[in-house]
Amino acid sequence: MSDAHTTEGRPSPKGLVLAGGKGSRLRPFTYTGAKQLVPVANKPVLFYALEQLVAAGVTDIGVIVGSTAAQVQEAAGDGAAFGARITYLHQPEPLGIAHAIIVARDFLGDSPFVMVLGDNFLRGGLTSLVDRFRRGQPDAQVHLLRVAHPESLGVAVVDAAGRLVRLVEKPQEFISDLGVIGVYCFTAAVHEVVAHQQPSARGELEITDAIQGLVDRGLRVDALPIEDYWIDTGKMSDMLEANRIVLETLQPQIAGNVDTASTISGRVVVEAGAQVVHSTIEGPAIIGAGTLVERSYIGPFTSIAHACQLSDAEIAGSIVLERTVIDGVPGRIEGSLIGRDVTLRGAARRPRAYRLVLGDHSEAQLP
Ligand code: G1P
Repeated sequence: MSDAHTTEGRPSPKGLVLAGGKGSRLRPFTYTGAKQLVPVANKPVLFYALEQLVAAGVTDIGVIVGSTAAQVQEAAGDGAAFGARITYLHQPEPLGIAHAIIVARDFLGDSPFVMVLGDNFLRGGLTSLVDRFRRGQPDAQVHLLRVAHPESLGVAVVDAAGRLVRLVEKPQEFISDLGVIGVYCFTAAVHEVVAHQQPSARGELEITDAIQGLVDRGLRVDALPIEDYWIDTGKMSDMLEANRIVLETLQPQIAGNVDTASTISGRVVVEAGAQVVHSTIEGPAIIGAGTLVERSYIGPFTSIAHACQLSDAEIAGSIVLERTVIDGVPGRIEGSLIGRDVTLRGAARRPRAYRLVLGDHSEAQLP
């Protein structure tokens, strides 16, 4: 049995971050990139999880990777940049979150661990959650948030004392509005459960079933209600929303060049080597390194990545990925997610028709 209830201190928890998965709801971006690397305020969403684990004192981190392993490894490296040590663990098929624990068995040993889904974003970080797990020493700890659409999440039923009674993955019928967010704390007791688990109807080893297995074995699973802002950035609209939330917390900083004909207001970051010429930027907004913005308007809640070029453009509430060109587009671009190396140009000559090269699963709304 586990040493969960001994009074001696436990070993420090390891981290397990899931960055496999296909990201089908974020197509077309995920045809070429890992969904955990889509940037929020010019930083891959995965990096927030790594930074937050380190801030919570968790530095020995396993990162589960799948078909996008090379990109994830290239981006996060050996972890030194985060003050962590990263071990990459290959999950050959996306067979579920509980399956990732099986993949990580040797890395985790008998250590307690904090598991974070690499596309989840929790604004306030993980420190208070992890501290509570260290102090409380339950066999596992889940984190619950009241949500409007519980049918898209794992859902928890708790009793009057706040103890976890039952967990159901994406229930079709309403059982509770307490969604289980993608941050979990476990002891080694979970390994015995996942080793005997059967795949669900969608063919995955569900994390909700693993936690239910702990409850069924009479182990102590603490359910912590959270009031922080949390989002699973798996969908386009969620990405834009996470971007808005993070931009609101930016420390304004102008490291690039802003000419005297330009106006900057609100929380704005202009990264090193960026140039703002004859333009207006209304924050919160971030302009990436080496990006040129000329004769343009950048409105609130916009993140422009590095090495882009915006000329005679008007854009707000959007995310633009690296090396994209937006030039002389009539009208305002809003609520948009624009990928890497995209060219969007206004037509000076007639016919003034829309000429589009949109990849599979693209989405465009034209006036
Ligand atoms: C997964 C879990 C679910 C959890 C959710 C949080 O869902 O299965 O229990 O509530 O993450 O983001 P999935 O993203 O695999 O649909």
